[in-house]
Amino acid sequence: MTSNITRNRTAAASPLSRFDIEKIKADFPILNETVNGNRLVYLDNAATSQKPRVVINAIIEYYRKTNANIHRGLHKLAEDATRAYEATRAHTASFIGGVASEEIIFTRGTTESINLVACTWGEENIHEGDEIVITEMEHHANFIPWFMLAKKKKAVIRRIPITVCGHLDLNNIDEIINPRTKLVAVTHMSNVLGTINPIKELAAKAHARKALFLADGAQAAPHLPVDVKDLDVDFYVFSSHKMLGPTGVGVLYARRELLENMPPFNFGGEMISEVSFDRVTWADIPHKFEAGTPNIADVVAYHAALTYLEEIGMENIHRHEMELTGYAIEKLSRIEGIEIQGPQDVTQRGGAISFTDKDLHPHDISTFLDSKGVAIRAGHHCAQPLMRVLGKIATARASLYIYNNEDDIDILCNALVEMRRYFGL
Ligand code: ALA
Repeated sequence: MTSNITRNRTAAASPLSRFDIEKIKADFPILNETVNGNRLVYLDNAATSQKPRVVINAIIEYYRKTNANIHRGLHKLAEDATRAYEATRAHTASFIGGVASEEIIFTRGTTESINLVACTWGEENIHEGDEIVITEMEHHANFIPWFMLAKKKKAVIRRIPITVCGHLDLNNIDEIINPRTKLVAVTHMSNVLGTINPIKELAAKAHARKALFLADGAQAAPHLPVDVKDLDVDFYVFSSHKMLGPTGVGVLYARRELLENMPPFNFGGEMISEVSFDRVTWADIPHKFEAGTPNIADVVAYHAALTYLEEIGMENIHRHEMELTGYAIEKLSRIEGIEIQGPQDVTQRGGAISFTDKDLHPHDISTFLDSKGVAIRAGHHCAQPLMRVLGKIATARASLYIYNNEDDIDILCNALVEMRRYFGL
């Protein structure tokens, strides 16, 4: 194992030199904070990422210079705000492979994007006896909306199991995705196991059965280059806040003809074409799905996050995280009592690294690490069905991003060794 990792690290050494982690760290003011007297080591990026100065400044500048409601006013500020908001939509469309701007809907987050699809497309297209396929590794956000829809419509939820190594088990896939399947909804990258799933292959399987495919990109879009046209998915959903942008901004990409045929999600201002006392017609996409005043400032600032990521390069980010994940897995697996969940091969996984200690509860691990300034997440990670499959009540999870380096991993691992000593293990 050590030699493989060494080889991987050597092979991947060049990307690190393409961008300077210390310089990147300096762009994130919060990373200068101390926690319990220690330098903050932030390893909870799968929950939310930190924000670079350019994003923080974009929010401040928007409120200082541009703030107005969009798509309504004819004054300069209203036009500037509308232009800035729509520029982010165009940028998002190009970021995921060059789709049309109208195919991007802004929501509050990945969760709302999935609920939007379930409550609009799902409400109209799922009927009694239809089947919705999910996997055993879904976040609750990509399970409960389908579970509730299936319950209401007397439809059936089928699930793709996982292997002991944390991959999807595709042995029976042609029976699971079958002529009754109407939708396949799969996470692109697991928030617990880190597994990167074969989205393109599964979307092709769904389409061969005339079913639609939704990919939950919440953990993938921040870390990998994503091209939704190449993946050939019908819906792709993700959140700004996990990719350096503000909270409260989510993205739903859907193919134009789907959006045009889906009913609205919310009703109110700006989503209409004409309203009289006895008749209402809807606005064209994307506005049909964005009722009311949206989260303008945060959408505008999300533009700065996308630019920041693109300047570093998504390929470079992915390679950096592969290398660092390999380093972390190697070091963690050398600590007595620690067991890592999910694939070990860094080419098939991202940097969300769940682990357990055979003697300690994950909450105790997290609390001890916090005392050393290390922020991780511990718990079920909004994936209770997966925890049952793993036979765990909870895991500890360290999750990496562009500003993490080997020093952060060393501090994490040294703290874990110290923790075991502290508890007399
Ligand atoms: N979905 C986020 C996580 O896994 C909140 O931590």
